[in-house]
Amino acid sequence: MATAVPFDVEPLTASFGAVLRGLDLTQQASDADYAALQNSVVQHGVVVLRDQQLNDEQQLALGRRWGALHVYPVFRLAGQDVPLEWVEDTEKSPPKATRWHTDLPWEPRPPKFGMLSAKVVPDVGGDTVWADTAGAFDALSPVMQQLVSGLRVLHKVEADGMKRLVSLVDEEAGNAFRREYAHGVEHPLVRRNPDSGRLSLFLAGYWMDRIVGMSADESTSLLHFLMEHATQPRFQCRWRWSVDDLVIWDERRTMHMALPDHYPRHRKLRRCTVEGEVPLSIS
Ligand code: OGA
Ligand code: MN
Repeated sequence: MATAVPFDVEPLTASFGAVLRGLDLTQQASDADYAALQNSVVQHGVVVLRDQQLNDEQQLALGRRWGALHVYPVFRLAGQDVPLEWVEDTEKSPPKATRWHTDLPWEPRPPKFGMLSAKVVPDVGGDTVWADTAGAFDALSPVMQQLVSGLRVLHKVEADGMKRLVSLVDEEAGNAFRREYAHGVEHPLVRRNPDSGRLSLFLAGYWMDRIVGMSADESTSLLHFLMEHATQPRFQCRWRWSVDDLVIWDERRTMHMALPDHYPRHRKLRRCTVEGEVPLSIS
């Protein structure tokens, strides 16, 4: 029998994404409530909680219930240990995360949860879209599942990203970032979520350099197929933001992107990510 949860669940689709109603995270909740919330993130992949008037500290404290908060590595190497970030789009600073990706896949331990809290929302546009990479894995033929299950992918900060990231810090920290991250990190293409046991495709869009051991043609074609497959509308859920919406997603079974269709309107979201485990392979 399912355990009672301290909120109502309104699914966004039959298998991916849900709005949770009845929790006020500005109030101290019980350990059981936080555990139920974490289970919901894992179960639904993406959860939305509306009207959460969290301040910076409250959002960080919520993330810390589930693990250490990730500090963006260029800032860590510049000696700034601040896990809080802002996504802010203005006329002078157009939307950036507008292609499918997962966050920080080139970390040896990529985040397990991502969290955004909306503070300024445009009157039109600016939705975020997520893709269910566990549903996408399940929908592959058994033969393709078997083929991809033994593969590893090199995730790497590509050239434009490298330029942008090192420009955010001083030269010394930029060089340290290059040294530490230029080679990239290999992760399994199919990963097991330790909290659910479920398998998903660990895809990360433009952060993926290649499938280890394949020729460039083979790798490009197979990654292209898998990206096209996993980002079909049938695996997506999408959220139209209101102020004080809080969205938490499981980075281990999703990709996401921001839509830029509000530009040049103002949009501002507070962001943090919770550190995850070294991705588990299938066996
Ligand atoms: C992010 C991100 C999407 C958005 O913060 O990692 O991709 O909709 N944001 O702003
Ligand atoms: Mn992102």
